[in-house]
Amino acid sequence: MNSPLTTDVPAAGYVHGYSRREARRLGDQADTLATLLHSGTSYPPGSRVLEVGCGVGAQTVHLVTGSPGVRLVAVDLSDDSLAEARARVAAHAPQAHVEWCRADLFDLPFADATFDHVFVCFVLEHLPDPVRALAGLRRVLRPGGTVTVIEGDHGSAFFHPDSAWASAAVRCLVRLQAAAGGNALIGRELQPLLTAAGYRDVRVAPRTVYADPSRPELVRGFTRDTFVAMVEGVREEALAARLVSPEDWDRGLADLRRTAGPDGTFHYVFFKGLAVNPADGGACGE
Ligand SMILES: C[S@@+](CC[C@H](N)C(=O)[O-])C[C@H]1O[C@@H](n2cnc3c(N)ncnc32)[C@H](O)[C@@H]1O
Repeated sequence: MNSPLTTDVPAAGYVHGYSRREARRLGDQADTLATLLHSGTSYPPGSRVLEVGCGVGAQTVHLVTGSPGVRLVAVDLSDDSLAEARARVAAHAPQAHVEWCRADLFDLPFADATFDHVFVCFVLEHLPDPVRALAGLRRVLRPGGTVTVIEGDHGSAFFHPDSAWASAAVRCLVRLQAAAGGNALIGRELQPLLTAAGYRDVRVAPRTVYADPSRPELVRGFTRDTFVAMVEGVREEALAARLVSPEDWDRGLADLRRTAGPDGTFHYVFFKGLAVNPADGGACGE
């Protein structure tokens, strides 16, 4: 394997972008992992729930299905994603009560203590200052309300057949995300991040995905259509940043695809955190 071609990665935008392919990947991811990620999250009817960074509504559908009767407000920066989210929820959960709002989660247009619960999934990993984001969410959360945060951690990916080229391709994504201001290894940090943002009763637990040929749905839905597709999606950026040669990239992706093959296995850990906004205001770690 050739050594990396460069050590300086130019800053980029949102690493996964807003393509049709990425929208499909988010849907595959959410549907495949719905039970794993959403189990334990159920809000009473009538609760006021805020989802920030709803994207194309892939998690929103599972949120409102798992908590019928909630009044959900879903926020994202992207108008196109919000339009897609609205259509997805109308198709899959037409009874749901959802308001859609284009806003920056760092500058939310809601009064203090508007919500009983906040839900954040696969968003903090893209933010330059996740503690400031979490602390800001406390403003719109009522005292005693909860925040639920779900993030992955690409350092938890190991697989068979093992391959230095495949691992190097995954590291390209980690580096590109870091160059864009994010952190693809954030899952392991959720507990300290929530604590630093002033939440109390912080509980974080790993939710492990393990896929092998005895679980073909998971191999398709997670290994191939979620994880490998995500790495494939940064090919052009990785080559443009000269993080890897085209030959090594192609070898890495071929090896990564083998982990979804007849002799492949894949392991990954998501981290799910639940924490309470303290009634006494707490010490904010901004
Ligand atoms: C990886 S997607 C996750 C979408 C969705 N939560 C899911 O799991 O399918 C991250 C989303 O966060 C949104 N986002 C990023 N920064 C944001 C910000 N400052 N305010 C609001 N949304 C933001 C992006 O537009 C994108 O739709």
